[in-house]
Amino acid sequence: MTFSLPDSLDDIYPHNRAHAFVKIRGALQASEAFSSDALSLSSGDALACLPMIPTATVDLVLVDPPYHSTKKDNIYGDSDFEHDDHFVEWITDLGREWKRVLRPNGSLYLFCSSDMAPYLYVALSKDYNVQSMVTWTKPNEPGYDGWRQKMKKTSLRRWYPHSERIIFATPATDGNLKRAPFGHFLKSCRVQCRLTSNQLTEITGAYGKVNNGGAVSNWETGRNIPSREQYAKICEAFLGTKLIKIMPKYEDVIRAFNIDPKEPFVDSWDFMNVRQYRGKHPAEKPQDMLRHIIRTSSYEGDVVLDCFAGSGSTLAAASALGRRAIGIEIEDRWVAYAAQFIKAKADVSLERERELSIQGPTVAVASLPLFAE
Ligand SMILES: C[S@@+](CC[C@H](N)C(=O)[O-])C[C@H]1O[C@@H](n2cnc3c(N)ncnc32)[C@H](O)[C@@H]1O
Repeated sequence: MTFSLPDSLDDIYPHNRAHAFVKIRGALQASEAFSSDALSLSSGDALACLPMIPTATVDLVLVDPPYHSTKKDNIYGDSDFEHDDHFVEWITDLGREWKRVLRPNGSLYLFCSSDMAPYLYVALSKDYNVQSMVTWTKPNEPGYDGWRQKMKKTSLRRWYPHSERIIFATPATDGNLKRAPFGHFLKSCRVQCRLTSNQLTEITGAYGKVNNGGAVSNWETGRNIPSREQYAKICEAFLGTKLIKIMPKYEDVIRAFNIDPKEPFVDSWDFMNVRQYRGKHPAEKPQDMLRHIIRTSSYEGDVVLDCFAGSGSTLAAASALGRRAIGIEIEDRWVAYAAQFIKAKADVSLERERELSIQGPTVAVASLPLFAE
């Protein structure tokens, strides 16, 4: 898994994102149940649909599969696995497909339970560099205590697992897990341009804090990534040698990590849980948390994939942020629900964007006739 130099300007972002989206939609045509200009929701099994998606067409995989911990009957697949190993193997198989469909500079976010997270971390580490293990603390709104209604916590004889984990991982380069695909690419371009690491440092002015050439070698070993300005200087240096004719755009090679300092910048998140409402998907994730992930780990126009779409929350969040999104969901009732949910969100998305910092609960889609219980 690595980058190649573009043959023509047509290969370059954002054209290739639009093209990728069309290719994915074409591949999933037979199962597509709902679509709009930038969204497509398919009805089907994730592991059956994923192999149809063309390689290296997705920028962000954001998935919330059944957890296999709570064994909830109201979530398809949650109690399907007799042994923990079977669940881990299933996620490992999915992980291989996610890596295949991801672009080399893409990202994976996997929601999971605190119980299963350590096993999944180890399993995914074979193919990915795990960047963070986020703890979502799931606070409830004041006066609304979700777990108290469900169980007598004192009988548990351990701390009630109120938090969930989100594994944030990026594709590792074959054969060298700690090297990011961009590092390999940078080095091969530098060698092709017959520049030493120190020469490139001189040209770009990217001196490391410790020694000359520090920044370039950090980029090549995957310890760090250049800023947009630094990458522009790298491109100028390579193109200046006339040994390379076209360089890819920043968005085509550098992993997105757009942090707004006003947002939580730590690996412990306290986005408010989605409050119960009539017809709610039992695992609906809050829009502000999904937007936080999508805004940080993708660029505008990018392709986001959620192959456990549930309520359609990821697709709604992606759409509100100007991304393209592909969803897959196995249960027909949630496919139908998601189509309505996404439309309902689209009507209020800008207004809600302003309110989202206050609370997570979303539009009462349940009031639509489709969701009458
Ligand atoms: C934990 S929920 C996702 C909830 C979603 N993130 C939301 O915010 O609404 C998992 C979803 O995956 C679906 N699912 C379970 N097994 C699946 C499979 N093999 N392929 C596709 N979808 C599946 C379930 O029906 C359920 O809606």
